[in-house]
Amino acid sequence: MNLSSLIETNIDEYLKTHEHKSLLRFITCGSVDDGKSTLIGRLLFESKMLFEDQLAAMEADSKRWGTQGEEMDFALLVDGLAAEREQGITIDVAYRFFSTDKRKFIVADTPGHEQYTRNMVTGASTADAAILMVDARKGVLTQTRRHSYLMSLLGIRHIIVAINKMDLVDYSQARFGEIVEEYGQFAQQLGLTQVTYIPLSAFKGDNIAAPSTNTPWYDGPTLLEFLETVEIDDTRMQQAPFRLPVQWVNRPNLDFRGFAGTITSGVIKPGDRIRVQPSGHESTVARIVTYSGDLPLAVAGQSVTLTLNDEIDISRGDVLSIADAPAETADQFESTVVWMHEEALLPGRPYLLKIGTQTVTASVTDIKYQVNVNTLEHTAAKQLELNGIGVCNLSLDRAIAFDAYQANKDTGGFILIDRLSNTTVAAGMLHFALRRSQNIHYQHVDVNKAARAAAKHQQPAVLWFTGLSGAGKSTIANLVEKKLHAFGNHTYLLDGDNVRHGLNKDLGFTDADRVENIRRISEVSKLMVDAGLIVLTAFISPFNSERRMAREQLAPSEFIEVFVDTPLEIAEERDVKGLYKKARAGELKNFTGIDSAYERPEAPEIHLNAANLTVEEAAEQVISELRKRNIIG
Ligand code: ADX
Repeated sequence: MNLSSLIETNIDEYLKTHEHKSLLRFITCGSVDDGKSTLIGRLLFESKMLFEDQLAAMEADSKRWGTQGEEMDFALLVDGLAAEREQGITIDVAYRFFSTDKRKFIVADTPGHEQYTRNMVTGASTADAAILMVDARKGVLTQTRRHSYLMSLLGIRHIIVAINKMDLVDYSQARFGEIVEEYGQFAQQLGLTQVTYIPLSAFKGDNIAAPSTNTPWYDGPTLLEFLETVEIDDTRMQQAPFRLPVQWVNRPNLDFRGFAGTITSGVIKPGDRIRVQPSGHESTVARIVTYSGDLPLAVAGQSVTLTLNDEIDISRGDVLSIADAPAETADQFESTVVWMHEEALLPGRPYLLKIGTQTVTASVTDIKYQVNVNTLEHTAAKQLELNGIGVCNLSLDRAIAFDAYQANKDTGGFILIDRLSNTTVAAGMLHFALRRSQNIHYQHVDVNKAARAAAKHQQPAVLWFTGLSGAGKSTIANLVEKKLHAFGNHTYLLDGDNVRHGLNKDLGFTDADRVENIRRISEVSKLMVDAGLIVLTAFISPFNSERRMAREQLAPSEFIEVFVDTPLEIAEERDVKGLYKKARAGELKNFTGIDSAYERPEAPEIHLNAANLTVEEAAEQVISELRKRNIIG
């Protein structure tokens, strides 16, 4: 008896069988218009066992479904899916469920536009297989290569190259052969070994559920047959060493302290010795607690709460590892970064890095190379644009526990988040820890910041002047310094035009260079504050992100942002250096306020309405604010 008729005769039996069917997760990818929606519609349609949302939709629409012919039903279904996805444009990935007699399926339906690489990466990280759609008329395109490259990075093991729209090339065996040949070469370079090619027409239904009479020369599996039989290795993660990224600490009363999370790999039982990472403390598992009682053993995929036999300090973001095969810990890595945002990745800019349940601050210290997805060549890059894929060194603000992505996707995969907009801007995979991160330690020194500052009888601080070119930053900062000097303070003025002749003479005015300019200045001013000085910096410093980085290097009372707020019209009218004129004439590129952005400070400590103040008044306003803040007496 087949499963469908079981529904009518024995619903309990049906549900039981259904529950025990294996589950295949797969994604579809390829270029726009290669026919992904049609294919998914076709799979849902052919499986004839639509359920959950599809079933509900069908019931609601039963009349229409009931009275139309088969082709019509199919077209309606596809339209419905497409419309749903259009409306849900904010939903990155739509997951569709269907099932056949042999298996259950979850397919991540990802839009195919260039800017949607993100969605593919999101959908693909848990996929067992990927269907790569290729339009038989167009063959292998850039997008086909990009997605293949991503699949190889993400470690998806089974690739089905669905050579679609065969009806539009008269089911030509020769055309099929050409594409197989072309893709095969590329796949080989990528090291993709398990590739299956199927000629089909999603629209007409050829080779989807039944072998097509239009392709008598093809004797491989149909698409559904392949999906129903492809090997799913769901025990693989159980064989890897035990890892549990701690999601929260469960402390309902003083007698109970449990560490809750999902086991990402391995097996654990009471008595097992575990190591808490990155701290390195060890203990043994006392109990494995779940809602339905204690367990004698738990495996990858299960959400549990562990209690330990020792009182050790553990918090969210820590990783519990089996003690004899722990994760590594480090704060600098080599990694692959897939950039997914319109605004380019800039080395030196701080981003949030989320890995497992841990979030830290990270920046790219170096783009070693970018990969050309068409030729797989490595090219030099100063920044990564939308969809750019690069091998980058990363530096984190603290150590984390990790595994190489190849060994464990959960403890080796990360995302980068923009700190101001909170959007996900990249996905990445950790390769290995950089040796230097393990070998460089902070030197402990006995004469510290407080001692140096005390010797100078002053409170060290940074006065961070920001504003347009010609706003008056240098002039005002210069007068403030003179006044401080007259009071007997030990100061130092770092000025854009001067520093750019020395320390930063290798830098220009692209966004990437400005980020690096400010990163170095913020490091230098931090050292000078450590030396006990009152530092004044006068740089346009146009981006919020880097001003924030400079701020976060110091204690809150040490950083004073001074916004020299001169309207563009006035700075341009003054045009002391004649640069605005040049910029307007197109002779000077990337000029701040003209063709390069200036992001106004959101909450500066001192806001100078410079257009309405004399230099003397502006400097006095700064001095009086310093008194208020007890920086000077
Ligand atoms: S920042 O953006 O990186 O902070 P910085 O303050 O160091 O800039 O340098 C700004 C000074 O460089 C300006 O006052 C101006 O004299 C000069 N300059 C030359 N080219 C540019 C440009 N394209 N944009 C802004 N300033 C420029």
